[in-house]
Amino acid sequence: MKPIIIVVGARPNFMKMAPLYSELKKRKLPVILLHTGQHYDENMSRVFFEDLGMPKPDIYLGVGSESHAKQTAKIMIDFEQICYEKKPQRIIVAGDVNSTLACALVAVKLNIAVDHVEAGLRSFDNRMPEEINRIITDQISTLLYTPSEDANLNLENEGIKQDSIKLVGNIMIDSLIKNLEKTNLDIIKKLNIKEKKYVLVTLHRPSNVDQKEILIGILRALNEISKDTSVVWPLHPRTKHKIKEFGIESEINKNMVLTGPLGYLDFLSLTKNSKIVLTDSGGIQEETTALGIPCLTLRDNTERPITVEKGTNKIIGNEESKIVEEFNEIINGKINSHEIPELWDGKTAIRIADIIEEEIS
Ligand code: UD1
Repeated sequence: MKPIIIVVGARPNFMKMAPLYSELKKRKLPVILLHTGQHYDENMSRVFFEDLGMPKPDIYLGVGSESHAKQTAKIMIDFEQICYEKKPQRIIVAGDVNSTLACALVAVKLNIAVDHVEAGLRSFDNRMPEEINRIITDQISTLLYTPSEDANLNLENEGIKQDSIKLVGNIMIDSLIKNLEKTNLDIIKKLNIKEKKYVLVTLHRPSNVDQKEILIGILRALNEISKDTSVVWPLHPRTKHKIKEFGIESEINKNMVLTGPLGYLDFLSLTKNSKIVLTDSGGIQEETTALGIPCLTLRDNTERPITVEKGTNKIIGNEESKIVEEFNEIINGKINSHEIPELWDGKTAIRIADIIEEEIS
């Protein structure tokens, strides 16, 4: 049987593909795990393989960081060669990073089926590189696995054929449910913070960190918050570079607990035990909803509206005064009711594997 290539490239891909990789392997399907190397630092990549119980990738392209065009092009050139050599019957890509689009584009032009996990999400904001990656990947995919009804609607509105859209649920929550019991309080002790007494921050979107004035405003809001509540902030490399480039290290209050990027289990433990999460990540909006932790999203939109409608998420933009105001509301007890969206049940990988098995038999 010709192989199926599972593609991963950047941090948010790993927790989406780990459960599917394990399920397909369990069914003895000929799976090849390929890592493009878009993320390559220990803490952005290898730690996740360990935490999630994934083996070392069978193929590592090692493309590294570049501009969008160069990174995408490098992945395409290398991945095309792999497709010539391995002749996969289909490839599976996840999410919306540059590796997702690059590999999907190569495969479709070689008439190889492309399965897209986490299809159909839309922020309707074309300034986000991820939005472009999502729209194009969905247009050229063979099967589109969606996490929620809103994603199905988006795809139907873009003219995607109904029978290629498969509502399977949220695969990230498979990883969350499976790994929750493996978490412990080591990271809480190490950082010298107290359960439910700190706010967890993550920021890496170009819209928040690439412009000096905006980043300074956010830092000032965090400084204000850190006067009364511990602020724990694992810095993304992009954000760290920008703070240095802008020369604004002195804007960071000494009370803040800064760390480098953390592994999956440590971060999950920090999220679960936090009082509030402030983020611009997509996945963390979902993880906080699954865990029932209040989440303030420092963006003007979200491609995951279900986390606002049903979950614990609120979209608040990135203005200094608004961040502090919304934070204080939650600290003062204003927490909306919430529920876990349908099909966020830990069985999404099984549903996808069932479809793939039927497709290839
Ligand atoms: C990428 C994804 C984004 C995702 C994010 C999660 C795209 C377009 N963006 O953004 O959707 O939310 O990953 O982290 O694919 N760097 C390192 N070490 C690494 C990786 C990156 O130092 O292992 C630094 C490099 O300076 C690089 C910068 O971070 O230039 C940005 O990395 P890149 O992969 O281009 O984009 P992210 O901002 O990480």
